[in-house]
Amino acid sequence: MKKIAVTGASGLVGTRIIELLSDKFEFIPLKQENMDITDKDSVNSYLKSISFDLLLHLAAYTNVVGAETEKEKAFLINETGTKNLLDVVQSVKKEFLYISTDFVFDGTTPPYVETSTPNPISVYGASKYAGEKVVGNNGMIVRISYPYRSVYEIKKDIFRTLKGLLENGKTLSMVDDSLMVPTFIDDIAYGLGYLMNNYSNELFHLVGADAMSPYTLAMSIAKAFGLNESLVGKTTYDVYFANKAKGPRYSDIRSNKNTFYKMHTFEEGLSLIKNQLSL
Ligand SMILES: NC(=O)c1ccc[n+]([C@@H]2O[C@H](COP(=O)([O-])OP(=O)(O)OC[C@H]3O[C@@H](n4cnc5c(N)ncnc54)[C@H](OP(=O)(O)O)[C@@H]3O)[C@@H](O)[C@H]2O)c1
Repeated sequence: MKKIAVTGASGLVGTRIIELLSDKFEFIPLKQENMDITDKDSVNSYLKSISFDLLLHLAAYTNVVGAETEKEKAFLINETGTKNLLDVVQSVKKEFLYISTDFVFDGTTPPYVETSTPNPISVYGASKYAGEKVVGNNGMIVRISYPYRSVYEIKKDIFRTLKGLLENGKTLSMVDDSLMVPTFIDDIAYGLGYLMNNYSNELFHLVGADAMSPYTLAMSIAKAFGLNESLVGKTTYDVYFANKAKGPRYSDIRSNKNTFYKMHTFEEGLSLIKNQLSL
């Protein structure tokens, strides 16, 4: 069995990957308390003390709003942390897989495929792109977007945030003139399973099958779960993001290279989640 060391194993995406693929890979979760990726010496000694074939690097500073005021910290974790890890992985001649984001794009000229040119507009996006540049051609880079799953207590994703608000009767003001691609985390796990078994130093997008506005996304959740659709109102990108950290406006990210795993549409993902929740 291939041995996969995982940073960010306790996170939204990492926990589900390990849950779903534990019968196919031997995972070695790397806890922050044992190895802070910003501490070069700790990374060096800890990584050299374990045996692994591939390092799956999910750990990141992921707070998009917080990054605007904590720029140094975001770059320290997402750029320097990535460099600390890659240096050791290269020295022991193992494989390196860096998870990145659609936030590397500016969202002005969709669609975005693997050959599109990044131009981040937020500090978070810039710090993740800096991490990509550290990796360059010395590892695999996989970009994901708006990951969601059925259950995870520690952090909400966009699906569970909106579902929770609607269940509590809150009115929503959803942007109707921008695009995003929600991605079912189970698909990310299975797609990564293929890529980890078929490793190459390349860039891939592993994203959901359809782009939609946040308004459509919220309406889809309301419909799928029988919630009150009249709670879902509309706003514009400019109004919603006035004085806020911006995500790319038309973040229609797609893949020209994913011929190995069929990603689900959002409607399909919601239907799979309904099944999971009723088990
Ligand atoms: N969530 C999204 O919407 C989204 C979208 C696109 C791409 N991504 C990317 O997908 C990856 C996973 O995201 P996620 O949402 O699963 O992350 P998450 O839930 O926010 O978890 C972040 C993980 O990083 C670890 N970490 C943070 N700083 C660290 C440090 N200095 N040293 C070691 N570990 C550290 C955390 O450890 P502790 O638990 O110990 O703090 C945690 O396990 C990230 O690379 C992110 O950029 C996420």
